[in-house]
Amino acid sequence: SAQAVTIALSGAGGQIGYAALFRLASGDLLGPKTPIHLRLLEIPQGVSAAEGTALELTDCAFPLLQSVTIDTDPNVVFEGANIAFLVGARPRTAGMERSDLLSANGGIFGPQGRALNDHAADDIRVIVVGNPANTNALIAQRNAPDVPAERFTALTRLDHNRAVGILAAEADVPVDSVSGITIWGNHSITQYPDLSHAIVAGSPALDMVDPRWARGAYIERVAKRGGEIIEARGSSSAASAANAAIDHMRDWVTGTRPHEWTSVALPSDGSYGVPNGLISSFPARSVNGQWEIVQGLTIDQFSRERIDASVTELLDEREAVNALGLIPS
Ligand code: NAI
Repeated sequence: SAQAVTIALSGAGGQIGYAALFRLASGDLLGPKTPIHLRLLEIPQGVSAAEGTALELTDCAFPLLQSVTIDTDPNVVFEGANIAFLVGARPRTAGMERSDLLSANGGIFGPQGRALNDHAADDIRVIVVGNPANTNALIAQRNAPDVPAERFTALTRLDHNRAVGILAAEADVPVDSVSGITIWGNHSITQYPDLSHAIVAGSPALDMVDPRWARGAYIERVAKRGGEIIEARGSSSAASAANAAIDHMRDWVTGTRPHEWTSVALPSDGSYGVPNGLISSFPARSVNGQWEIVQGLTIDQFSRERIDASVTELLDEREAVNALGLIPS
């Protein structure tokens, strides 16, 4: 069998952790030949729930699962990690200002970035799921100066998968007849699900659905899907978020399908006018284990305005965490 892989996951006692860990342990990420070590990070209040999940993992008797450990110290948990899912974050509570939210999360993602810097394996790949995901990823990345910047990403694959599913339903085609969708910008209400280059059953999506819907209600539906789920389910998306995080990491390690792209929040190289270093969502392909931003897409005025609006929000968040001293300059 292949060499064992060490997967760290923070927020292991939470609902996304519960939805993700069994799939990771069963081989959904790296296939049926790669043994897995799971390293679970929690805060003291979450340890008991994580321990319960670990008991259930034992009770699954997964042949690939070599070990499960739980700790509250990121320096311990990230030791030798090849892959890190950073899920645990400080949620916004009533009356909390944005600066409070950013500084609470800076207190989490700064130390976790430093711990990854000092302890993770050389091939570490990081995905941040905990919100505000793009800016939390930026904080972690900037606190890990010895890790190549492009190893830090944030999850917009859930938005991407939602965009695929909702378009396929509208066009009444199977999801695998849909391609070429991009989520641009921030994982927030300002995100821009872009159908300009999308293909539905071999034809341009904008010929297959009402273009006014594509540039109106559709964008809002995708961006507000999280709220729709909370309304219906009584709690936020968990299985779909875990699924998207696994899709993201699997594609990163094993490659995207030929001729297709997905959406990934990664450090900008200046493509499409997005300022350098900002962790923003782009169309991307994974080639030889590295994300490459898809180049050369035409951006019309509608798209330009939407992308710029979301990027402006990310710049504001970066400025705020800079002002709070959360990222070393
Ligand atoms: P949850 O509240 O069920 O679980 C979060 C867990 O993280 C808790 O067990 C908590 O104790 C733990 N935690 C908090 N701070 C921690 C720290 N410093 N270190 C380690 N563990 C810590 O929340 P859920 O539903 O699992 O969601 C987790 C995060 O994912 C939230 O921030 C949520 O907003 C975000 N999210 C992001 C999505 C995306 O598309 N980017 C989609 C869905 C959720």
